[in-house]
Amino acid sequence: TLQSAFAARLVAWQKQHGRHGLPWQVSDPYRVWLSEIMLQQTQVTTVLGYYARFLERFPDLATLAAAPVDDVLAHWSGLGYYTRARNLHKAAQQVMADFGGAFPARREAIETLPGIGRSTAAAIAAFAFGQRETILDGNVKRVLTRCFGVDGYPGDKKVEAQLWTLAESLLPAADGDMVAYTQGLMDLGATVCTRSRPACGVCPMADGCVAARDGRTAELPQRKPK
Ligand code: ADE
Repeated sequence: TLQSAFAARLVAWQKQHGRHGLPWQVSDPYRVWLSEIMLQQTQVTTVLGYYARFLERFPDLATLAAAPVDDVLAHWSGLGYYTRARNLHKAAQQVMADFGGAFPARREAIETLPGIGRSTAAAIAAFAFGQRETILDGNVKRVLTRCFGVDGYPGDKKVEAQLWTLAESLLPAADGDMVAYTQGLMDLGATVCTRSRPACGVCPMADGCVAARDGRTAELPQRKPK
């Protein structure tokens, strides 16, 4: 079944065809965290420059925590959604106060920081600490609803809960594959299983994909009912 083959296929695909060489593909949790916050509402190409300049001024979490908030906002200027920068600054101070300056490794602990929801916490836990935690952002919801033919609006509470359970069931058995797996989920949604005109011809999941089989890629994920 596709469920049992999903992780191995995704990891192999990511290593060959996924995105590599991005500056946040490192194990420093501070750098991973910063990238995930910037990438929440901003495209990769735009983030690259801001990310480099931000790290020049705030090279580590302690430096960020000690900086005046206006300085942080100035380095965010142009990225928009400034709540992200205020939360970032507050979270850095919280890591200093609550975790002795060491970024927490467990997803549940990461989630206690302002501006970090379950999916972002899971991304940090997986990328920086190799933890078996699943992400579930908009792109991943699209991949899963199509591959497994999940009906209903993914923003609906019950459908979303079903997708979290499904996503957890797909995780690789070995922690050692979590970086490639998590990046693979992001890369497949961003480069192959796109919202319009998905590239099913090069998709590693195409032969087991419910939406591809049934010609339903245009109707999955289902839209918000009005
Ligand atoms: N979007 C969110 N996280 C990302 C990552 N790690 N790489 C590329 N795009 C992303």
